[in-house]
Amino acid sequence: MDHFFQDIPGWFDFDDIYADAVREAVDGSVLVEVGSWLGRSSAFMAVEIKNSGKRIGFHCVDTWKGSPTEQYHQNEVEQSGGSIRSRFVSNMRGLPVVPIESDSALAAERFEDESVDFVFIDASHEYDAVSRDIAAWYPKVQCPRDGADAERQEAAPHPRRFFLRGLSRSVRTGSPSRPPRCP
Ligand SMILES: C[S@@+](CC[C@H](N)C(=O)[O-])C[C@H]1O[C@@H](n2cnc3c(N)ncnc32)[C@H](O)[C@@H]1O
Repeated sequence: MDHFFQDIPGWFDFDDIYADAVREAVDGSVLVEVGSWLGRSSAFMAVEIKNSGKRIGFHCVDTWKGSPTEQYHQNEVEQSGGSIRSRFVSNMRGLPVVPIESDSALAAERFEDESVDFVFIDASHEYDAVSRDIAAWYPKVQCPRDGADAERQEAAPHPRRFFLRGLSRSVRTGSPSRPPRCP
């Protein structure tokens, strides 16, 4: 299936990270995107998953009400009648994406600790929100499974697949207690 994410408005510039996530995934892997907006990044991931032929669960978490401090988001959401969820779903074109309409931290509670293979957070970029997202989601990510990229595990000090985009400043303190390093 050809990619069509280019047709969807958004801020997606991390295709290498998403392509790696699918390449390293195994059957049964669980991938989570927090902050999907209209689905530009989600569509890329969903097509990569479909083309991989792997049995991968892909969950997209968003309130679909825009980041509270982003005026552009708020205008767009208002013009869509208060939510852009239906536009997201339509943009997914029936691909196997599980939309979770929820606040980020509340959605994290639906997942067991160390049950998720990959989390990419691209929700609100405000300091407090990012701190909250880290605390909520980092414990959910498990160490790479057998079959994942062993070389990368050795190279990276914390090889859990946990990514953040767009911090306005670094989050130095208040980080969650870090689960044990991966073996
Ligand atoms: C920068 S956009 C995501 C862009 C998208 N990843 C892309 O590549 O086009 C941020 C999204 O995060 C969502 N968001 C902001 N705060 C949130 C929160 N606390 N919980 C869930 N979603 C949130 C907004 O509704 C918005 O859709």
